Amino acid sequence: MSTYPKHRMRRLRNNAAIRKITRETLVTVDDFIYPIFVTYGKDVQDSIEAMPGIFRVSIDNLSKEVRNAYDLGIQAVLLFGIPEAKDSFGSDSYNPNGIIQLAIKEIRNTTPNILIITDVCMCEYTDHGHCGITENGAVNNDKTLEMLSKISISHVEAGSDIVAPSAMMDGQVGAIRSSLDQNGYVDSPIMAYSAKYASGFYGPFREAAMSSPSYGDRQTYQLDKANIREAMEEIRLDVEEGADIIMVKPALSYLDVISAARNRFALPVASYNTSGEYSMIKAAAQNGWIDERRIALEILTSIKRAGADMIITYYAKEAAQWLSKTN
Ligand code: PBG
Ligand code: ZN
Repeated sequence: MSTYPKHRMRRLRNNAAIRKITRETLVTVDDFIYPIFVTYGKDVQDSIEAMPGIFRVSIDNLSKEVRNAYDLGIQAVLLFGIPEAKDSFGSDSYNPNGIIQLAIKEIRNTTPNILIITDVCMCEYTDHGHCGITENGAVNNDKTLEMLSKISISHVEAGSDIVAPSAMMDGQVGAIRSSLDQNGYVDSPIMAYSAKYASGFYGPFREAAMSSPSYGDRQTYQLDKANIREAMEEIRLDVEEGADIIMVKPALSYLDVISAARNRFALPVASYNTSGEYSMIKAAAQNGWIDERRIALEILTSIKRAGADMIITYYAKEAAQWLSKTN
């Protein structure tokens, strides 16, 4: 039975104030984590073709970039390092004077209060571009765990606040947790890339980080796009192994996974609004086909509405500016 005209949903949509006061989901700058690519060399600020507005910066340009984000109200960055030399063991990843370790120290010294989150993986450091130690063309899970533990410790030693393992190796959270604890870093949290799908949305990132696998793909370690129950099991295991924050990645095509994770687990949920999601909006906007600000904020709101507590996004700086004006 229809309850109209007694019930009129439009009453609460009649003006901006009433819409604002009844709004269910608010995206704010506090939700954002800004990814930054750090590279070797001096005075480098390389643009990335598929990611307008995003650059690879050298360490001498890094503090300016971080300060800029911090001044816009962004309180967390996620760092990716691109080393000068790559080898089969990804040795620069745990080098105390490696690209990422130096970057962490630089930020610590120049913007001490920003939260430094560091991606823990091997693909930016290995010459074959896979996320772990390979043997006969396959990634060896358990040997990779030792490396991921070593990398995590070196990040925390350099001053990283949160390590974020993204290699999708079984047992990676547990291995990292116990190594951190054995080294006295009991208070360093782990943000686990728990449900990370094998996705075409990482394409522009791999251009930025020069980390495409030279053969094969990542389907033997990253999740199949069709599976959500398997994602819940990945998350459950990470929670059991000691994750402090869980993540669903990518965001936009996996809003149902974010929502399911939110409903099932009590830990904070992060979601990664990936490079491809960013590039699609940028490309359409540059063609004048869409309203960039409107669409970017709509997508960020949808990620938050689905249940994400924090969003890793290349739009962080622009969105911070948009949100600081009236909306
Ligand atoms: C490293 C890593 C990747 C991303 C974050 N960490 C790439 C990959 O797994 O191939 C993707 C981020 C993005 O697309 O923005 N494992
Ligand atoms: Zn990787």
